[in-house]
Amino acid sequence: MSRLDSVIRRLTAQRDCLGVALDRAPDGAILDIGLGNGRTYDHLRESAPARDIWAIDRAMNAHPASAPPDGFFLEGEADAMLEALHTRIGRGVALVHYDLGIGVPEEDVPLRASLTGGIANLLVPGGLLVANGAFEGMAQLPLPNGVAEGRYFIYLAE
Ligand SMILES: C[S@@+](CC[C@H](N)C(=O)[O-])C[C@H]1O[C@@H](n2cnc3c(N)ncnc32)[C@H](O)[C@@H]1O
Repeated sequence: MSRLDSVIRRLTAQRDCLGVALDRAPDGAILDIGLGNGRTYDHLRESAPARDIWAIDRAMNAHPASAPPDGFFLEGEADAMLEALHTRIGRGVALVHYDLGIGVPEEDVPLRASLTGGIANLLVPGGLLVANGAFEGMAQLPLPNGVAEGRYFIYLAE
């Protein structure tokens, strides 16, 4: 598979998994971990206009049209920003989208493990985590039709 085909499949999986999660997410805020260019933030904003949407990144590099409003962007390392958000809103997030990582398991797996507790602390019961990589210790939900196993992940908070 070419890298172009691979990117198309990953982004299609990302959009489809977010769609499934948005359809069944309970009441609460949304958190986009890894604002980047702001593409997923913009999609979440368009899909769920009535919800508060927070975004974390170590630096603001979003397209100006996709930047969160003042106060909803948490600039810093994800571990510290998860704690900061918990201090502000407690267990108030219905849907987390996790989009960190560089595609190198030796770095990405420990990063996910180090952030699992901070993410779980924010999720309301029945809340969902949609992620670009596997998280241990959370209940995995089935993927939408057409999304290959292991391409994207959806987890349910208990
Ligand atoms: C793949 S990009 C996110 C793309 C974004 N979701 C989009 O659709 O445009 C990953 C982002 O995560 C940020 N990042 C990576 N590791 C981080 C960490 N430990 N803490 C905070 N931000 C981090 C990077 O700065 C980068 O902007």
